[in-house]
Amino acid sequence: MTSVSLSTSAANALRADAVVVAVAKGPKGLVLAPGAETVDEAFDGKLAAVLTTLGATGAQDEAIKLPAPAGVKSAVVLAVGLGDAPESDSYDAEALRRAAGTAARTLHGTKKAAFALPLTDAAAIEAVTLGALLGAYVFTACRSEAELATAKAPLSEVTLVGAKRADKAAKAAVERGTVLGEEMNRTRDLVNTPPNDLFPKSFADIVTTVGKEHGLKVEVLDEKALTKGGYGGIVGVGIGSARPPRLVKIAYTHPKAKQTLAFVGKGITYDSGGISLKPAGHNETMKCDMAGAGAVFAAVVAASRLGLQVNVTGWLALAENMPSGSATRPGDVLRMYSGKTVEVLNTDAEGRVLADAIARAGEEKPDAIVDVATLTGAMMMALGARTFGIMSNSDALRDQLHATATEAGEPSWPMPLPADLRKGMETPTADIANMGERMGGGLVAGLFLKEFVAEGIDWAHLDIAGPAYHEAAPYGYIPKGGTGSAVRTLVGLAERVATGS
Ligand code: BES
Ligand code: ZN
Ligand code: MN
Repeated sequence: MTSVSLSTSAANALRADAVVVAVAKGPKGLVLAPGAETVDEAFDGKLAAVLTTLGATGAQDEAIKLPAPAGVKSAVVLAVGLGDAPESDSYDAEALRRAAGTAARTLHGTKKAAFALPLTDAAAIEAVTLGALLGAYVFTACRSEAELATAKAPLSEVTLVGAKRADKAAKAAVERGTVLGEEMNRTRDLVNTPPNDLFPKSFADIVTTVGKEHGLKVEVLDEKALTKGGYGGIVGVGIGSARPPRLVKIAYTHPKAKQTLAFVGKGITYDSGGISLKPAGHNETMKCDMAGAGAVFAAVVAASRLGLQVNVTGWLALAENMPSGSATRPGDVLRMYSGKTVEVLNTDAEGRVLADAIARAGEEKPDAIVDVATLTGAMMMALGARTFGIMSNSDALRDQLHATATEAGEPSWPMPLPADLRKGMETPTADIANMGERMGGGLVAGLFLKEFVAEGIDWAHLDIAGPAYHEAAPYGYIPKGGTGSAVRTLVGLAERVATGS
């Protein structure tokens, strides 16, 4: 695992495999960002000119390596782009996260790096810490021994150099960036773990072990308890699989907490579609369908590591959606935990697992419920692959989540829950069908979940189908595969609630 520490030593003075400096796009071409001064001196003040000659412009995602000159103790100088230079020297947090991420990603396979990026305040220190940890991330669990020796390993040591001070605020910023980075990487590992290794029981076992490490209360309902407890939605989705479902509760409490948040995560460890089987080409990435549960789990652990003054309960609805002789058929009617009946018209719509977990979470009367789910391809059609949709029965909660996500660096957008779309889920057979109109499918799914929210409880739904799993080329701190989407937003919300901001 990568570690990040803070040092007041000069950028040129630390011995590392590489020293990272940042460049930006100024009005008259490439400029060096603060932090690069001592390295530039070793280039006789010509670093910007050298980089420009090599074709650098300071744009985001640019990374150029140079052999270090005499006067720089590291072997290599790596220049990364921050994008447009701000008028003051105060760089946007997301630009810093991305540049640090690109740097750490470019340095896979090396051991030690000195990051000489602009560390103007605590926010900048946190951003660089987080970006470095996320960029350094590599999924190694499935490599053979021989491959591991050659596969590009994550950087083991990142030192933030040139910090003006290593005071309490600076150390707290490194700590918060580290917790967020490690917990997002925890989610990424879970998402990237293949579905033959990660299934409801093995996921629940991991939560139990990690929960214990952090002094968190973990309760697991197995298939017998779920059947007995009337969790028709979770059982109905999981019943076609040889690997039975679980509902996991993981709770963090603070003795001085005034509010309680419930986070509910969709944890389909593999989504084949069930009897409504997905066609080839649509199921290769469906190990990612537990990303919501992964994010919720990590967010609860993060809240505990940060000691937030709020109670946070995570509910992970874990099931594997498979076709078999025992699988739920399109046409079957399920009796849900809330008592409502659902006619399953398409087994590929697994909002049912969330419906039961949302109803169960509501019994404890939390101040708000936020569910996180890779729920619909329709949300990706609407918002693209990088932005998640936010739906809510409370405009205030929806706006707060949108603001929190934006501040945290997660693209999101508020989406409506139009009442007229409820009609499409009417069926002559049961209380509601699990399918509705095709148009606005992401909103239909949101309306389905809303049916299971207890009266008087604020609830929001984050559809992270797009950003949870990245299939295109890596950029900034985002690798291919699991991204850790929604972790920062959930932790940010918990912080806002804890501090009343
Ligand atoms: N897990 C999928 C949604 C998904 C699609 C996530 C692509 C990530 C990437 C979900 O369970 C699903 O299959 N949804 C269906 C719903 C439909 C049957 C109403 C969909 O989006 O097609
Ligand atoms: Zn699914
Ligand atoms: Mn599905």
